[in-house]
Amino acid sequence: MTGFPKVRMRRLRKTETLRRMVRENSLRVSDLVYPLFVVPGTGVRKEISSLPGCYRLSIDTLVEECKCIRDLGIPAVLLFGIPEKKDALGSEAYTATGIVQRAVKTLARKLSGKAEDRLEIVTDVCLCEYTDHGHCGPIRNGAVDNDAALQLLAKTAVSQVRAGATMVAPSDMMDGRVAAIRSALDKAGFVDTPIMSYAAKFASAYYGPFREAAGSAPRFGDRRSYQMDPANVREALEEVRLDIEEGADIVMVKPALAYLDVVRAVKERFGRPVAAYNVSGEYAMIKAAAAQGWIDEKRIVLETLTGFKRAGADIVITYFAKDVAASLRE
Ligand code: PBG
Ligand code: ZN
Repeated sequence: MTGFPKVRMRRLRKTETLRRMVRENSLRVSDLVYPLFVVPGTGVRKEISSLPGCYRLSIDTLVEECKCIRDLGIPAVLLFGIPEKKDALGSEAYTATGIVQRAVKTLARKLSGKAEDRLEIVTDVCLCEYTDHGHCGPIRNGAVDNDAALQLLAKTAVSQVRAGATMVAPSDMMDGRVAAIRSALDKAGFVDTPIMSYAAKFASAYYGPFREAAGSAPRFGDRRSYQMDPANVREALEEVRLDIEEGADIVMVKPALAYLDVVRAVKERFGRPVAAYNVSGEYAMIKAAAAQGWIDEKRIVLETLTGFKRAGADIVITYFAKDVAASLRE
């Protein structure tokens, strides 16, 4: 005889200890990456209204924040810069004295010590925070010029690594950018610096709060001519394949929550580590509902991010990283 009453699935759910013994997936602090926004000035710690609990930080306050993050056991931060001034070519993205370059230099000096107190610094490579039109590459004849963007993105990546970044994360979705960045890094002698590419990045309404934080909303049009159509999964796999072929070491799916089938498919198809980005809109929705008292924030966050792991993510990029790290320690 098989099945009930011989089989009772509830037997292994009886106590938390038993449940823990048969748990298939769990989120660890070492899976987390925390995104941060750096701005010019000193003593700046300005909360982002659409991302409660997240701040725009100047370099000095960023250093303090990063020490705190490292002490929580979080292995890496993902750094975004908000420059003093923007222009048509996004030149603040690739000058040696740019906001991210200066921040990285300081962080690398203060936080890249012994293995146990080291924090890895990942830098976002894109132009939209630096261009006055808010697009991810220069404009020609009213459209984003793919091939002209490649050169600028490669320059951006090299200057960030020269400043001390551990890894670069191109988020622009131009064709050929991983190859362009790989070859520029190699030429500059950084053959060992990994690339985490935003390989399957969808044109998403979930980026709204981030664009407010970075002042990077496009002035005209939208990003649908370079970011992916949310309906496509075969195309996402092709994007990932191409990025790996061009030299991506880690491939990212972004956003995460509405795209966990893509995370699963990428994980099954390719042998590279997969990152899932729990983007600003996903964070804001949970924060807003929790503020109303409608949901239990802590439990919802753990449940959501454990779902990313179950889908196959190796790395989870999230604005909840500090909260999660703290609660996993309890
Ligand atoms: C820049 C970039 C964006 C995000 C990460 N890098 C915004 C966009 O593409 O418009 C979104 C992150 C988030 O929403 O948390 N290319
Ligand atoms: Zn961009």
